[in-house]
Amino acid sequence: MKALGIDIGGTGIKGAPVDLKTGELLAERERVKTPDPAQPGPVAEAVKELCERFAWEGPVGIGFPGIIKGSTTHTAANLHRSWIGMDLGEHFGNVLPQRPVVLNDADAAGIAEMRFGAGKGENGVVLVLTFGTGIGSCFFNRGHFLPNAELGHLWFKSVVAEKYVSAGARKAEGLSWEGWAARLDEFLSHIDRIFSPDLVIIGGGVAGKTGKWLEHSKPPVRTAIAKLGNLAGIIGAALAGADSSVLERP
Ligand code: BGC
Repeated sequence: MKALGIDIGGTGIKGAPVDLKTGELLAERERVKTPDPAQPGPVAEAVKELCERFAWEGPVGIGFPGIIKGSTTHTAANLHRSWIGMDLGEHFGNVLPQRPVVLNDADAAGIAEMRFGAGKGENGVVLVLTFGTGIGSCFFNRGHFLPNAELGHLWFKSVVAEKYVSAGARKAEGLSWEGWAARLDEFLSHIDRIFSPDLVIIGGGVAGKTGKWLEHSKPPVRTAIAKLGNLAGIIGAALAGADSSVLERP
């Protein structure tokens, strides 16, 4: 069983076909730049191009960086406000061979990490955080999934947290990795105080750059680095694309 997973991010749109039994990619990941401005029409064209690169006709799952209920967007903090209120199954279905399943990008990453990665076999409260242009988040309790958690939008240090501690914020401020690791620890302390997770899995682009920051971080809570790294979003989207019931019971 295989499906195409697509991960729409603030700077890049990435995709690959995935073997759903093993979580392995069946072809090298492809990437196209996120159009600027990231409006629905040009982004759909970019998604179509990715799909065509694999000559894909089978099931497709798409991770989108906003709150998704059913397949309707409720936010799009790092894309363009014209997305809000759109039915994304229909929107992307118009340019793809079949209607895709659409879910929040961090939920996709979380589902994949629990199935194949650092969360496998973890039974307590697990929080998956992705650090990229924004901060994505996804909670599990005893393997049950809570969709659309938005911890990147917690008010923290007089801004929404993702403006303080996302990978994008680090770049924009020219902050050192050491400085970023200190902010990460502050954020994790805050999260720990509120949610007491048993494990926090750190994913997104920073998961592939641990050499730069991990030794500087002294987290106040048990953490693990996402095993699937930045591919988790693609893998989780593919899982959902083939079987949307993973959104109820990953
Ligand atoms: C969005 C989330 C998304 C995260 C990571 C945030 O700005 O609100 O829905 O998961 O960025 O892309």
